[in-house]
Amino acid sequence: MASSTALICDTEAWKDLKGHVEDINKTHLRDLMSDANRCQSMMMEFDGLLLDYSRQRATVETMDKLLNLAKAAQLTEKISRMFSGDHINSTENRSVLHAALRAPKDAVIKADGKNVVPEVWNVLDKIKDFSEKIRSGSWVGATGKPLKDVVAVGIGGSFLGPLFVHTAIQTDPEALESAKGRQLRFLANIDPVDVARNINGLNPETTLVVVVSKTFTTAETMLNARTLREWITTALGASAVAKHMVAVSTNLALVEKFGIDPNNAFAFWDWVGGRYSVCSAVGVLPLSLQYGFSVVEKFLKGASSIDQHFQSTPFEKNIPVLLGLLSVWNVSFLGYPARAILPYSQALEKFAPHIQQVSMESNGKGVSIDGLPLPYETGEIDFGEPGTNGQHSFYQLIHQGRVIPCDFIGIVKSQQPVYLKGEVVSNHDELMSNFFAQPDALAYGKTPEQLQKENVSENLIPHKTFSGNRPSLSLLLPELTAYSVGQLLAIYEHRVAVQGFVWGINSFDQWGVELGKVLATQVRKQLHSSRTQGTALEGFNYSTTTLLKRYLE
Ligand code: F6P
Repeated sequence: MASSTALICDTEAWKDLKGHVEDINKTHLRDLMSDANRCQSMMMEFDGLLLDYSRQRATVETMDKLLNLAKAAQLTEKISRMFSGDHINSTENRSVLHAALRAPKDAVIKADGKNVVPEVWNVLDKIKDFSEKIRSGSWVGATGKPLKDVVAVGIGGSFLGPLFVHTAIQTDPEALESAKGRQLRFLANIDPVDVARNINGLNPETTLVVVVSKTFTTAETMLNARTLREWITTALGASAVAKHMVAVSTNLALVEKFGIDPNNAFAFWDWVGGRYSVCSAVGVLPLSLQYGFSVVEKFLKGASSIDQHFQSTPFEKNIPVLLGLLSVWNVSFLGYPARAILPYSQALEKFAPHIQQVSMESNGKGVSIDGLPLPYETGEIDFGEPGTNGQHSFYQLIHQGRVIPCDFIGIVKSQQPVYLKGEVVSNHDELMSNFFAQPDALAYGKTPEQLQKENVSENLIPHKTFSGNRPSLSLLLPELTAYSVGQLLAIYEHRVAVQGFVWGINSFDQWGVELGKVLATQVRKQLHSSRTQGTALEGFNYSTTTLLKRYLE
């Protein structure tokens, strides 16, 4: 781009792609898929992963044009600025270095001139030591009992990533074995029902509470933390906090003020965005307590493998770059506003909710990084469910209603295989049959001619016709382990960054979450004064006043 304030939509590369949409609209995936050379060129392998994007509404020419767009957006420079610790999160004047959280011990990654890798490893070593003490029972609770259960209190990025990883690995045989006799729970919602659910069946004597908050000011987390502190001190006395509560935060002063010993706090840094923090103590501490540090280290290694691939692989073979460019193509040129994340793996049931935050909090923006209003949409509506459950829910719309590009994620080897005598295939083969069938059903559809040949009655033909030409991509993982979960995480994190870099936005701030929080503060104040002093409500519109009055009555 000519200057930093130019918008990507003003470049020749963008205009070229706009014009190219007309060519693509003349194609159908049915025909594109018959070209084996094209399909072969749209398969990428890296470190055990296989990506197949041949069912995207794209030709070899489209890919060339997208690579030109990457050039026009200065993608190479932007990626390199990210890994060099430049303050690319300009509205908060911060580096964006979540990749440093999983870098090998001897790597050098600098923020503000200082290598951050030794600090990262100091915290990792501290977590290793602490989690071994808890797991071995050498650290005991106030009444001398080992702490076998953990409740992690946090919300948003201090919750969704750790929950996703926990859910993904808990049935992996190695992780299952290492977590024997232990429980890990997550308290996120300020709804008191979530507190009740999470302490149900737990004994404060054997429970460790980990308060996870980057800022240590988030209203929901702090109230939940105070609620669990009360639960512990009521049962065990005030001094029990020292043994039963630890914290993860960038704000160690507030941790101490809350009453948690700073020695029992695990730091991270302002160059880690909340939604990118699962590889910091935010995720590593609770997961190490549950599974042991060595399992979690494999997760970090998987993510690191993708970091290196992302940094050093030419764009035409770079998995996060290809995925990011294709998403820009789908959103900005083909006009598809949503994306479905469809893992054929129950263990990945919390993957879509996590990516929803990573993607939608990062890329749902209305202005460029320089503050210019954008004449094009950014971000997409991400949602998803594991297959085959989703097939019995929202796939009808995906097949015959709105066009929604789909990410199909499949696993070659099940974590928990079942082979029943007398069945045609194993349970996992049954699951995966659907994984392989759905993308073709979307791409090819079914024509009225085919239905006629099947003697479908005339009146049903319109209802049974599938237009096809619906894009998807397939990602096949060899197995679901801590390592491959790390790979999957990093692929999606970097894909979101690529999209933001091309759109020319700041994917690393989240001002859009602030206004609602401010308004809630005003409501909170008035609820308090109305309940305690009978003060009349003021300053709200007719609608909010009516609702509040009904609530207070
Ligand atoms: O509500 C948005 C947000 O700021 C997220 O970006 C963040 O992950 C979450 O709140 C929790 O913040 P904290 O870790 O500071 O409690």
